[in-house]
Amino acid sequence: MDQLKRQAAARALEEVRDGMQLGLGTGSTAKHFVELLGERVRAGLKVIGVPTSEATRADAERCGVPLTTLDEIDHLDITIDGADEIDPALNLIKGGGGALLREKIVAAASDRMIVIADDTKWVPTLGKFPLPVEVIAFGLGATRRAIEQAFAECGVSGQMAVRKAKDGHVFVTDGGHWIVDAQLGHIVDPPGLAKALSAIPGVVEHGLFIGLASSAVLAGGEGIRVIERRKPKGDQE
Ligand code: A5P
Repeated sequence: MDQLKRQAAARALEEVRDGMQLGLGTGSTAKHFVELLGERVRAGLKVIGVPTSEATRADAERCGVPLTTLDEIDHLDITIDGADEIDPALNLIKGGGGALLREKIVAAASDRMIVIADDTKWVPTLGKFPLPVEVIAFGLGATRRAIEQAFAECGVSGQMAVRKAKDGHVFVTDGGHWIVDAQLGHIVDPPGLAKALSAIPGVVEHGLFIGLASSAVLAGGEGIRVIERRKPKGDQE
């Protein structure tokens, strides 16, 4: 599986040109990309990156990839990031690693987003992977009730749990927030649910990435498949 992730990362690296400003994703697949990019940088490629998490910042620094911020530059050429699920409209569930907020800010600031993954992430319908919803700890009871109502309005339901870290304490994101993971099974209307969740005051962000991915590079036993999004970035399927 790790080999497939690296193959997908290597294929996405072929899209990178000298002088590009890159969004650097988070997770085990994106980590392969950062490592491979580092090799090219050490061989003379000139790029600059914006990391989507403190973990990726550390990886990029270790690999010698120069970094900047979205305050210093006004746009990114490409963001390369992993995903937890990808559907045929190239809508995504992200946030399994907890970096969804910065990942979405960076993807939205990019001309293109290339999703890299092994082909087990390709699904007919989103929702088997628990949907991460990043929340403010204050008033969590009220926020959870509002989330449940949004689920009901969008025809889904399922158990919700505050994410725990490996040490048993509440998982805290890079932004200092908590994550509620929702087991929905089958999300019938991802764009509708994304909109409903975004309207809840205590929700900082959610893991539905709608209309952001431009293409997906999927590595599997049969080789690599590149799937291009049919509609321009920002349009919903
Ligand atoms: C991080 O918050 C996530 O969005 C990751 O991009 C996603 O979980 C994919 O991670 P892997 O590449 O480790 O499967």
